Amino acid sequence: VHRALADPRHGGQPTVSRLHDILAEALPLTAVTTVLDAGCGMGGTMLDVARRSHARCRGITLSERQAALGRAAFARAGLADRLRIEVGDYDDPPTETFDVVIAIESLAHSPNPAATLSALTTRLAPGGHIAIVDDLPEPGARGTPALARFQSGWRVPALLGGAEIRAELARLGLTLTLDRDLTHELRPRSRLTLAALATLNYGLRFVARGTRMRRLLESYDGGLALESLYRDGLMRYGLVVAQRG
Ligand SMILES: C[S@@+](CC[C@H](N)C(=O)[O-])C[C@H]1O[C@@H](n2cnc3c(N)ncnc32)[C@H](O)[C@@H]1O
Repeated sequence: VHRALADPRHGGQPTVSRLHDILAEALPLTAVTTVLDAGCGMGGTMLDVARRSHARCRGITLSERQAALGRAAFARAGLADRLRIEVGDYDDPPTETFDVVIAIESLAHSPNPAATLSALTTRLAPGGHIAIVDDLPEPGARGTPALARFQSGWRVPALLGGAEIRAELARLGLTLTLDRDLTHELRPRSRLTLAALATLNYGLRFVARGTRMRRLLESYDGGLALESLYRDGLMRYGLVVAQRG
């Protein structure tokens, strides 16, 4: 589900697997590693981790459908013995501890990101790492119509910036081990294309029948607004890794 990044292994073409390569470089994944994927979507990252290592992963998503698709993919890959996916809330994570907690484009959906970070980091084993990848608004994005469209379209209630996430992790007693800006690896479309698509989207919302179709169009509009924030340098796509002492 996550963003495609320019991939040197594919001549610079964006791929969703590029983020997995970056994570694998950033995280210690060994035979004994246990991983919690908080907001795991359909489990694509867990599959990648399991293929690269002997780690055992547990994922949480709010969506029954994502969980079912993930479980089917794990079974097809013959990895169901090491990968588990559950429907649940990452604010109430499993009681066991993990060597690695991953949150890719999922913290943004939390109504209270500070509380979510606190809940997730209490599940880190001593020396364990948390890796967060997300859209991080620059201070100049606050109060802009584009940020409001993005937050409303994607149901992102309380988005933290990079500095706020780093401060929160420090407050929780974690040490920052990596702060990597991946913005330049995104490939947002041109301003002209984004403006044309936003106009089309606006018109379609007037004639759309049914709440479901309107909701889908609002979500697309949120994505267009996000791309325009990237185009205008008002949003960063970042990876932050921190370690528990
Ligand atoms: C944009 S998707 C990202 C999925 C995945 N991390 C990836 O990289 O493809 C956001 C995910 O966050 C999950 N999510 C949002 N709020 C959540 C919560 N409170 N508890 C658990 N999962 C949550 C959604 O169910 C969804 O799977």
